[in-house]
This record gives sequence, structure tokens and C-alpha cells, in this order.
Amino acid sequence: MERIFELIDKLEEENCLAREEWIALLKGRSPKAAEYLFEKARKWQKKYFGNKIYTRGLIECTNFCKNDCYYCGIRRSNRSLQRYRLAKEEIMECCRLGYDLGFRTFVLQGGEDGAYSQKMLEDLVSAIKDSYEDCAITLSMGELSYERYLGLFQAGADRYLLRHETADGSHYRKLHPPELSLDNRKRCLFDLKNIGYQTGTGFMVGSPGQAPEQLAEDMMFIRELEPHMVGIGPFVPHHETPFAREPGGTVELTLFLLGLLRIMMPKLLLPATTALGTIDPMGREKGVLAGANVVMPNLSPISVRKKYELYDNKICTGDEAAESWNHLNQKMKQIGYELAVSRGDYKEEEICTM
Ligand code: 5AD
Repeated sequence: MERIFELIDKLEEENCLAREEWIALLKGRSPKAAEYLFEKARKWQKKYFGNKIYTRGLIECTNFCKNDCYYCGIRRSNRSLQRYRLAKEEIMECCRLGYDLGFRTFVLQGGEDGAYSQKMLEDLVSAIKDSYEDCAITLSMGELSYERYLGLFQAGADRYLLRHETADGSHYRKLHPPELSLDNRKRCLFDLKNIGYQTGTGFMVGSPGQAPEQLAEDMMFIRELEPHMVGIGPFVPHHETPFAREPGGTVELTLFLLGLLRIMMPKLLLPATTALGTIDPMGREKGVLAGANVVMPNLSPISVRKKYELYDNKICTGDEAAESWNHLNQKMKQIGYELAVSRGDYKEEEICTM
């Protein structure tokens, strides 16, 4: 019991733990330990971000995907899904609406869709940059070559999100078909960092086959990569995947991991994810109170939102609709925070806003 509190203190002071310590901490966690952890997490969150929550407008550009990940609803084997691909003009229109709402970061996310050529993507990135000079562009389009990442960066992309999904090799093979490898995933992440992107990684909490041993690898890999952002959310089964009948991840463990990430890397950009908001109506508020400092409302056209179904019952109306910035802001205010109209960059320097 005492040991868990000591491990939390150690993580806060030294910003890393050994594998066995991670495992002990995760196995021995308790509601009391979580309370202790979240208090520390909020202290660091307040130190670097005050009560401001950064926003990113998420544009789900395409649900075509050449991959067949066993957990994902838009995997290529899902024949019952109606596929769509937004045209440049539609994406530009999402940005226009988003800008008026207050978004200063646009996240262009999609499956690995071969029909989006390098030229088309570079053209899109520079068009958005030309129209919205004060905005950041985040790409989340999967695994690409070094050259393609570089070209997109030179076209104006600022950030890239690519979750590693799991840092344990055999677990990686349980979640993915043989043509995908953890080595290439990691290669991509190190390439992105080397090129100069603000880089985000992350993983699902409670994916099939995940135990504290795997999570220890995830935390150690994150320490090694030193990303600027980490997106974590509960695994939520999707009915048209091989994992349809697997149990989902829990709010409790997701929140505990958010708290650990905040005290391990206090300046991290840490979203309270859509998946967390999907399995608990108060999920995002709880995420913020555990240390998260980013929300990513959906800016995709209403007509396609249902089709970007990574998992069952993914929220796509209500607060998830970017139109309800005000409502989301209200909810944040109820817990003592507010949405920021800002690019919300990673801060290398220490800036205390309180
Ligand atoms: N449950 C939760 N998250 C999922 N993702 C994909 N499928 C699921 C699922 N069934 C996450 C992956 C991916 C991100 C875009 O969505 O971690 O990186």
C-alpha cells in the first residue's frame, strides 16, 4: 500500500521508473492512490497550462484504409462500411467553419488511403496554411516514408499523430496483421521527430491481451521517444471486427494512466479523448481532472461522421459536434477550466500562466 505512494512520488521526482516498478504500480493501484496521483497531476497541469484547455478541430478526411488492424472499425475487411473521401474543397470548408468557431489547430486524420497522393496532400496543407496563417496543421494519416513525411512538413504541416498502439512486440502482432510491424511504426515516429514535427504517439487502454506488463513497455517507450503529445483512450469493441466480443477498456485505468503520463512528462499535450467521452458521459471532464489538457471536437461534415466509426457508438453529435464549442466550454467551466482560442503548441520554455 505504502509502496504505491512511494512509486508515485518517485515517478514525479525522477520522471521515470524501472519496468518492475511500473508493473508494481499498475497492479497495486487503488482509488486512494488515484486520488493522490490526480492531485499531483493537476498541480503540474495548472503550472504549465493554468486552467486553459487546448482545442483541436478534428477533420476525418477519409475512411478508406489499406490496413486490416483487428481492433479498428474502418479496417479494409469491413465490407459493411460505406466508404467516403472528402475533397479538398470540403476540407477547406471544415477549416473555415472551425476557424470561425475558435479553432486554431486542424487535425487532418484518415485511414491509410492510397488515393490521397503526396501531391494532393502537400497542396492541401499549403492551401490551409495560406488561408489560416495563425493556425497549426496536424496530420494523422498513418505510416509513410521519411520522404513523404519530410515533403508534408516542408509544405507546412506542424504536427503528426501516430499512436504506437502497443510497444510490446508480441502484443503488437496480436493486434495487427503480419504485414504491419512495431519496428516500422517506431521508425515512423523517430522519423517524424527528427524531421521536426511536434509528434504525438499513444495507445489504447484495455486492448485484448494488454496487461500491466504491456503497459509498462508503453510507458518506457514513451519515455524513450519523448513525444510532445500522447493520445490514450479505452479500447471499445467494434461489432464488425475480430475483437467484437472482447471486453472494452475501463475509465478507471485510462484516468490512472493519464495521471501517470502527466507527472512523468509535465508539459505533455494530453487529450481527453473521444473514446473516453464515448464510454462515460463525463469522461472528458474526468480526463481533464486526471491531468489531460486537450480536447479534440469533431469538425467533419455531419454527413460523414457516422461513417468514421473506429468503434461502436462513437460519439458524433452533442458536444462532439464542434458547433457546440459553447456547450463544451460550459462543461469545462463547471470543473474550473475553459477552452483556449490558441494554437496550443508544445512549450519548450517554462511558462506559468497562473
Ligand atoms: N477502440 C478504441 N480506439 C480505437 N482506435 C482504433 N480502433 C479503436 C477501437 N476499437 C484508435 C487507434 C488509432 C486511433 C485513430 O483510434 O488507437 O490510432
